[in-house]
Amino acid sequence: MKRLLALTAAAFLALPLTPATASPAGTPGAPSAGDPYFPGQGNGGYDTRHYDLTLDYDPASGHLSGRAAISARATQALSRFNLDLADTLTVRSVTVDGRPASFTQSGSELVVTPARTLHDRRGFSVVVRYDGTPAHVLDPDGSMDGWIRTADGVYNANEPQGAITWYPGNHHMTDKATYRFTVTVPADRVAVANGDLVRRTSMGGRATYEWNVREHMASYLATVSIGTFDLTDRRVGRYRVTTAVDPQARGDATGFAERHPPVLDYFGELFGRYPYSSTGGIVDNAPEVGYALETQTRPLYPRVPSESLLAHELAHQWFGDSVTPTLWRDIWLNEGFATYAEWLWADKLGTRTVQAAFDEAYARPADDEFWQTPTADPGGPENLFHDPVYDRGAMTLHALRGATGDAAFFAILRAWAREHRYGNADTAAFIALAERVSGKDLGALFDAWLFKPGKPAL
Ligand code: TRP
Ligand code: ZN
Repeated sequence: MKRLLALTAAAFLALPLTPATASPAGTPGAPSAGDPYFPGQGNGGYDTRHYDLTLDYDPASGHLSGRAAISARATQALSRFNLDLADTLTVRSVTVDGRPASFTQSGSELVVTPARTLHDRRGFSVVVRYDGTPAHVLDPDGSMDGWIRTADGVYNANEPQGAITWYPGNHHMTDKATYRFTVTVPADRVAVANGDLVRRTSMGGRATYEWNVREHMASYLATVSIGTFDLTDRRVGRYRVTTAVDPQARGDATGFAERHPPVLDYFGELFGRYPYSSTGGIVDNAPEVGYALETQTRPLYPRVPSESLLAHELAHQWFGDSVTPTLWRDIWLNEGFATYAEWLWADKLGTRTVQAAFDEAYARPADDEFWQTPTADPGGPENLFHDPVYDRGAMTLHALRGATGDAAFFAILRAWAREHRYGNADTAAFIALAERVSGKDLGALFDAWLFKPGKPAL
């Protein structure tokens, strides 16, 4: 009733001012994508298509100044909409389709009211100018996330919620878009991002790096990492391999670029072709961060990766980056698959068979706390990166393989990568696909491995 009255009043007030040809008044876009683990993430009412980010960063002071030009498409008539951006950054101006728009910032919501209502299903463009000193956030599990400063620059890892710390956007994984980055840093530093290196120019002691991402990418997989890196960009085998290695990084970086093609070739045989136009990695010296991330096309490592970590992050390019979950609860579709790929790579190298890896993980006693977390719902955002998601997720795939046989199992993985390439998909879609491709009823298997607490029987 209250809502009805409000609408009637709005319609009445708008009437004398609205020319006959104008669109109906829009309504505000939702302030959330509705993910229960991170209710602040994402927004409704539009889909982003492309981000053009121009950033200028001073590692000494930590000051960032940015311009984000976002192309989007309305999915309803919009009177206003939200972007996600931490309020440690100050927005200086917003335009929508070239006209100044009014805006407010509160917490991580940037609320934009365009001068005119945006029409449903039409494209529009937003330009946000902002600056400040980005601060990383702490995740529910206590880890650092986002724009993380290092001795010489930035370790920029954004899973699950760090994207708000450095650029405005629709920061839930269901809204993927293409990107272009133009990043200016002091000439003795390198700014490395996702996608293809387009050019490097320098002027007056500053260097500008341009990177282009042609395939749709979720916000949490974007990175602009900065430091004193040795940058290499060349063809190795069938791949364009672009690496950035901090000379201070722990571990032996010899042949880092050359280590990629054998892993990618093997995964290409098993999962279908590598989905991106370039590959490589960013190896920083960041012991205080402690975790790597599968940043799209070019994973980010806090030290030189072991062979299994390299395989893990490269496998994510198929599982996580190209095929992305729809809710954080489905994170096993990333971590279980990448862990299984580690097992496959170790088996291929002759280090340990997949069966031995399964047996080791399965050997945990039935009363171990580990078995209380069902794979497909770790229970909350504090458990996203805990062992059950990784190891029980990988064991789930091995149990599936046992039930279907190798031919059907790898056909399922390839179909998953192909049918959802560059998109999003959830656990229910995986189950449906596995049953379709194998022709088997897998309800009991997935029930035991994905949804029920307790140690599944073999
Ligand atoms: N997705 C990363 C990987 O497995 C891990 C990761 C991302 C992580 N963010 C994290 C681990 C935060 C611990 C805490 O490759
Ligand atoms: Zn992972």
